[in-house]
This record gives sequence, C-alpha cells and structure tokens, in this order.
Amino acid sequence: MSHEQILDIRNLTVKYHTFTAVSNVSFSVNEQDFIAIIGANGSGKTTLIKTVLGLLNAQEGTIVTPTGVTVGYLPQHTMSLDRFFPATVDEVVGMGLLAKKRFPKILSKQEKQNIEDVLHMLNIQHLTHKRIGALSGGQQQRVLLARALVSNPDVLILDEPTSALDHNMRKQFFDILSHLNTSHGVTILLVTHDIASASDYINRVIYMDQKLLFDGTFSAFCEDQKLSPFIHTHSLRHKKMGDES
Ligand SMILES: Nc1ncnc2c1ncn2[C@@H]1O[C@H](COP(=O)(O)OP(=O)(O)OP(=O)(O)O)[C@@H](O)[C@H]1O
Ligand SMILES: [Mg+2]
Repeated sequence: MSHEQILDIRNLTVKYHTFTAVSNVSFSVNEQDFIAIIGANGSGKTTLIKTVLGLLNAQEGTIVTPTGVTVGYLPQHTMSLDRFFPATVDEVVGMGLLAKKRFPKILSKQEKQNIEDVLHMLNIQHLTHKRIGALSGGQQQRVLLARALVSNPDVLILDEPTSALDHNMRKQFFDILSHLNTSHGVTILLVTHDIASASDYINRVIYMDQKLLFDGTFSAFCEDQKLSPFIHTHSLRHKKMGDES
C-alpha cells in the first residue's frame, strides 16, 4: 500500500532572537506514519512542532502540506490545570470544535454526538460533566487527547502526552494511538522521552539536537552505535526522575 506525502519540511531554521533552536531540518511525513520525535531537553522538539503548526515563524525553510489536511494538537505541559478551572469535560472537548467556527459558536447535534463518541472511545464518558480541574493528571490528559481528536484530524501532533501517566495508562494511551493510526489512518507525530514504550507502535524515529541527527526505523536507530549513549542516558534519566517523585 502506498501512502501519499502529507507534510514536507525543507531546510527549516527557527530562532528565538539570535539563538538557533532548530537548524536546517528537513524531513517528510507520509500518510499513516507514526513517528516518534526524540532528543534531549532543549533540543528543539517543541519549537519544531510549533513551527509546523504555524504557532511560530521559521527564519528559513518551507513547510508544505496538501490543501485541506487537518491537524489536532496536544501541547506539552498541560497538566497543571487549576483545580477550579470553570469548565466541564464536555465543554473542554467541545473547544476542539469551536476553535474553527465563526460566531455564533454553537455546537450542532452531530457535533455533540462526536464529543460523546470520542469520550466513549477514550473510556472517559463517565467524566462528561465533571470539572476538568477535579480530575487526575492522567484523566486530564485523556480529556485533552479527546479535544485534539474530536474534529477527526488527518494528522495528530502530540508533545510529551504520556509524561503524567502510570505504566497501565501509558500502555492504554499508546493502544488508543495505535488504533487511530492503523484503523483510522491517522498520521501521528509524537514527541516523547519514552522511546522504549513507544517503540512497539512507531514506524519511524526522528532524533534531533537542533539539527536532525537520525531519521529511520527504531531498529536501525538501536543499531546505530553513535546513538546508543543517547538511549542509555535517556532511560537512566527517566528512572531517576521516577525515583525522585
Ligand atoms: N520562547 C522562547 N524564547 C527563547 N528561547 C526559547 C523559547 N522557547 C524555547 N527556547 C529555547 O529553545 C531551545 C529549544 O526549546 P524547545 O522547547 O524546543 O526544546 P524541547 O526539545 O522541546 O525540550 P523539552 O524536552 O525540555 O521539552 C531551548 O534551548 C530553549 O531554552
Ligand atoms: Mg518540549
């Protein structure tokens, strides 16, 4: 089965004032790719995907997508929602539909059904009328995934979505992503520090440190001797972080 190209990034450079966060990065993404984007803290991963999303401007380079391609986004650091944030789960998920509407921002019957369906798929339908701030970190993460999914995007971009999840939840989360990828043909770009958990699901790894250092399969990544210290220090760091909490 051949998949069409859905995103083409050429010679992308992104700077904050004079500091270069992303340097001359090129890669393309095909329909139904499931790509893990990895790299140390500060290596430019979030900057890269924000630029792809159009939230940041590139100093150089091009980003090309076929017209009509839609994107869902789950941003990094969304976990510390105020306990009293005055919105319920269905309202937060509905924001994923309202953002694209002009006024009046009213949801149709079909859209309300879509919200119900996505909550059901993520197994959080029982939380529908709860305040988002009253949920656990893992539950909030599912709600935010629901918000990213409710508009049925062609491409899903997730920035560290599993950092607040325990082992079981992490597995369930990846199973959901895998289902979306294989059964619904959703293309997924996943920024993660947890390449070990993601490795069963992805078809490609992009490893960056300002520049793109590797783009290929996970097994090729593991075989690349130059990169093995990275995998090692990464798993150690995560163990340490887990121990501290
Ligand atoms: N708004 C900003 N203004 C100035 N510098 C920034 C800004 N945002 C990020 N940077 C810098 O750009 C570099 C890349 O940051 P970025 O957030 O893209 O890294 P990251 O790979 O996502 O890191 P992490 O794994 O910690 O999330 C870092 O050195 C960071 O300090
Ligand atoms: Mg980041």
